[in-house]
Amino acid sequence: MPDMLVSLLNLPPVSPILDQLSESGIVIRRANTFESTSIREFIELHFSKSWADEVMPCFSRQPVTLYIAILEGKIVGFAAFETTCRNFFGPTGVAEIHRAKGIGKALLISALNGLREMGYAYGIIGGVGPEEFYRKTVNAALIPNRTPGIYTNLLKG
Ligand SMILES: CC(C)(COP(=O)(O)OP(=O)(O)OC[C@H]1O[C@@H](n2cnc3c(N)ncnc32)[C@H](O)[C@@H]1OP(=O)(O)O)[C@@H](O)C(=O)NCCC(=O)NCCS
Repeated sequence: MPDMLVSLLNLPPVSPILDQLSESGIVIRRANTFESTSIREFIELHFSKSWADEVMPCFSRQPVTLYIAILEGKIVGFAAFETTCRNFFGPTGVAEIHRAKGIGKALLISALNGLREMGYAYGIIGGVGPEEFYRKTVNAALIPNRTPGIYTNLLKG
């Protein structure tokens, strides 16, 4: 799984996307520590147990390094940063029935702004799946000599 590099210095503006989503009742905001159980359950149900584990460090930070998307009081997507490695974005995911509405992009840019606020100038998108999504939304580029990445010799099951 490749890693990608993204400049945090010229991220696309997120406000217009947030405004557009809010017209459909979707709110993007930082998670709270007291929501960690609901968030972990959402990630485990829609994605995997290992992703639910991976976001745990986010809740030990102030501010929490995790953004969520909410519709009618329920979580529909998430984006984490500073989880397994410093300066890394991910994991992220949007519930399948809510994809292709701009939620993934809004979560991504919000989280990358979070990395920028921590003082980083560039961010790393770790263990990328949909390269084209990152290229298209934030102009990310593949990092050369990227093997082995951070996700190697993994436990099975
Ligand atoms: C990747 C993911 C988070 C995108 O969420 P989403 O809410 O559907 O994405 P958006 O609606 O914000 O898409 C923004 C743009 O990226 C494009 N895009 C979205 N997913 C894409 C993909 N897999 N490949 C290429 N382009 C993609 C959209 O077409 C859209 O383009 P547009 O602005 O021209 O309309 C979602 O598909 C997902 O949860 N995937 C499974 C988990 C995963 O792979 N996470 C990433 C691990 S590195």
